[in-house]
Amino acid sequence: MEGRWVQLKDYTVYLDRKIGAGGQAPVYVAYKGKNKYAAKCIPNKTVKHLLDNELLIFRKNKTHKNVIRIIDFCEWEEGKSAWIFMEYCKYGSLKDFCRNNPRYFSNNRVKLDIILQISAGLKFLHELNLIHRDIKPSNILLTEEDGQMVVKIADFGVSKQASGTSTRTIVGTIQFLAPEFWPLNENLDPVQRKYNEKIDIFAVGLTFLAMIQNSCVDQVLLPKIKGLKKSQESLAIGQLMYMRKVDGDTPLSVVSVEHDDDDFTNLIKTIIIECTRIEPQERISAEHIYQKLTSLAVQQVTFFYHIFGVLHIGIYYFKADWILVVGMLSNFSFPKSSTSFPKAALRKLDVQRM
Ligand SMILES: Nc1ncnc2c1ncn2[C@@H]1O[C@H](COP(=O)(O)OP(=O)(O)O)[C@@H](O)[C@H]1O
Ligand SMILES: [Mg+2]
Repeated sequence: MEGRWVQLKDYTVYLDRKIGAGGQAPVYVAYKGKNKYAAKCIPNKTVKHLLDNELLIFRKNKTHKNVIRIIDFCEWEEGKSAWIFMEYCKYGSLKDFCRNNPRYFSNNRVKLDIILQISAGLKFLHELNLIHRDIKPSNILLTEEDGQMVVKIADFGVSKQASGTSTRTIVGTIQFLAPEFWPLNENLDPVQRKYNEKIDIFAVGLTFLAMIQNSCVDQVLLPKIKGLKKSQESLAIGQLMYMRKVDGDTPLSVVSVEHDDDDFTNLIKTIIIECTRIEPQERISAEHIYQKLTSLAVQQVTFFYHIFGVLHIGIYYFKADWILVVGMLSNFSFPKSSTSFPKAALRKLDVQRM
């Protein structure tokens, strides 16, 4: 292959093929033999925490299908950068995916599958006592494994091992920051800024909100609130919540559950409300989000098999029971990723990403 490249361990990193130009650590395409990987460059020791944080899970030696897997890394050598090698997600971030496949993305089943997988990944992280601290659409990646869509939580650059103690470090992306982080100027904050894994829950709630708004950029639209001043419209949701609390205003609800919403939208909206409560201890846990979503997914499958079974009762009589039994049994193996990629929809994306 042509172009600028660098050989690191067994990996050839193509410096002309940048796939992520975010903040301080660019991401490039790399190959080890025929296999494709993503290589993240940590330029120097002034951002040493980026490497340490990314390696938190790697060092725990635990993996999960819905969390990006770091395969290898190299530390700094004299005058060189440090690198992390991870599995390559061929469809890029949720942000890219939503932008490139708006019609596919607007399907509720696809969204349910994505949201379910994000929750499974977050549940795993929180069980390991890891706080991600920067959950947002551009840090959720999508790929395909055995013909199924697989979602992965990525970018652990600012993640943290929960210690039970408070910390005042300001991290994350302003639009997704929970109310307990505001105001940002530490000198203005007389209260000890305490947080726990519930900051991820707040951010994941806003990520789901971005998904139902069909936007998925790292920005969420504020709900329409009576009496909101023009100057407040550009505020981050967490900031606005914090200000309303200080002013003694009624707590802000980021969505309203409408009468004519379908089951899926209603459930997601309820989950979003439970994720974005102003008091961290009142927010739902990742485990509960996962449980609620699983029950909706199971209901849908059961419904499908009932319809299918009833149709067969009319036609074949005896076969119906078997179909129902198989249908019921298959519920026990749920959830598994159920969304296959429509190849035609993704062809366009392949051109852009590969
Ligand atoms: N493993 C990967 N596979 C495919 N694309 C990736 C991968 N890792 C990162 N990217 C792309 O690079 C972008 C930035 O990567 P990220 O790890 O979030 O770094 P940053 O710290 O710069 O935000 C992502 O939003 C995604 O588009
Ligand atoms: Mg990122």
